[in-house]
Order: sequence, then C-alpha cells, then structure tokens
Amino acid sequence: MSLFEKHVVLEKHSLLLLLGIVLVVAIGGLVEIVPLFYLKSTIEKVEGVRPYTPLELAGRNIYIREGCYNCHSQMIRPMRDEIERYGHFSLAAESMYDHPFQWGSKRTGPDLARIGNKYSDDWHKGHLTNPRSVVPDSIMPGYPFLASTDLDYRHIQDVVRTNAIVGVPYTDEQIANAAADLEAQANPDDKNAKAFLARYPKAVARDFTGDGRITELTAVVAYLQMLGTLVDFKIYDDKANPR
Ligand code: HEC
Repeated sequence: MSLFEKHVVLEKHSLLLLLGIVLVVAIGGLVEIVPLFYLKSTIEKVEGVRPYTPLELAGRNIYIREGCYNCHSQMIRPMRDEIERYGHFSLAAESMYDHPFQWGSKRTGPDLARIGNKYSDDWHKGHLTNPRSVVPDSIMPGYPFLASTDLDYRHIQDVVRTNAIVGVPYTDEQIANAAADLEAQANPDDKNAKAFLARYPKAVARDFTGDGRITELTAVVAYLQMLGTLVDFKIYDDKANPR
C-alpha cells in the first residue's frame, strides 16, 4: 500500500479526517503559543515612551466617546507608501499604555498615530470646531461643543487609578496628584507646573486653546499634540545610516 493509498482511508472517513485536522491544528497552535509563555514581554521597551498625563487621558477618553476611531486609525504599517505619508512605522511600545488600543481598522480620514506637532493648536481648534474652515473639502463632522464644554475631570483620579490597575505603571504620587497635574498641564503658570513636569518628563504644558479655560477641546488638543512624539526616531535612523 503506497502512502497515497493509505491517505485514501482518511479522505473517505469524515470523522477520521476531522480527528486528523484537529490533531494537526493543535500541534500548529502549540508551536505558536507555547513559546509566548516563556517570554517576559512580547513588547520591546523603547526609550521615551511614558504613560499618558491625566489631561491627555481625558482627551483620549473624549476621542473614544466621540468615536473618532471610526474614521481614524492609529497604526502606521511598515509599508513604503505609509511610511512616506505618515512617518516611521508604529512600534508596539508606542501603544503599550493604551487601554483600549486605538489602532483602528477604518481610515475614512488619515492615520493619526503621528499627528502630534504636525499642526498648531490653533489649527486643531479651527479644524475640530468646523473642519471646512481649514480643509474646504473635508467630510469630517464638526465638534463645536468641545470648545464650549468645560472638561469634567472630577473622576480623573479614578481614571488614572483604573489604568494603573490594568498595568500602566503610574506611581502613587501620580495617582494622588491627577487633578492637580491635569490643571498644571493646561496652565504653565500653575504653581504645580514644575512638579507636574517632574512627574511626566518631556510632557508639554501650555494653554492649548488659548482661552485660559480647561474645556473638552483643551484635552483633545493636548492628546492629539502628543501622539507619536514620544520616541525620537532620529536616534534610530542615525544608527541605521551613520553619516
Ligand atoms: C466621519 C469620519 C470622521 C470622524 C468621525 C472624525 N474624522 Fe477626523 N478626519 C476625517 C477626514 C475625512 C479627514 C481628512 C480631511 C480633513 O483634514 O478634515 C480628517 C482629518 C482629521 C485630522 C487631520 C489629519 C491630518 O493629518 O491632516 C485630525 C487631527 C482629525 N481628523 C481628528 C479627529 C478627531 C479628534 C475626531 C473625533 C473628535 C475625528 N477626527 C473624527 C474624518 C473623520
């Protein structure tokens, strides 16, 4: 009996074939899954990545509440057209503190993974209030109420603590000062501004909406302006292409 003839036995008995399939898939699964249990982390640590500040977290929650992810992804794929348009491809570490992640699967609008510092705060203010005011052909909806709604951050400490519970390494000090840090980031003259910057190195503190208020727009702009700015890719590019 040749090998092919033996195989006929499997092919003619659906139950045997099913068993065979289960066996083969199980082996394949084990080979893929078991090694993951022996890794401490599947995410490589990258210099510069830090947890979100309370104000950025608040902005992120509004981003989720308004469903921005329905039209915007936050993941640049390692393909040439994406890299030329959006910048360095996304690293796993860049979204390691995202709960839930905002990679998205739909791009009605452009990817936002590196939107930080691309436009001025003023541009975002105009764009979010009425996208047509800066991009005449835009089909993005306006969110004019963000600028007129004071940010409700009574529960910001709980938000930070919840993120800590699911694994974001916030310190007790960062949790205890959540509300003060939120206010300090929106107002660089705040008496806590220095302490805030010590707790969140390289965070940007300024009056994001230029009106001295802390509105929902303040939080969203603070969030957008930091996206993709934490990792200094110049270091990596210079290493890869030493001059
Ligand atoms: C119905 C789909 C849709 C939704 C929902 C949406 N956008 Fe957009 N967005 C777009 C489109 C289309 C563009 C490109 C045209 C433009 O710049 O307005 C865009 C552009 C942008 C840009 C400029 C990107 C760039 O690189 O030029 C930003 C920033 C942005 N959106 C933020 C947001 C935020 C924040 C929200 C949620 C409050 C949001 N969008 C919700 C469709 C959407």
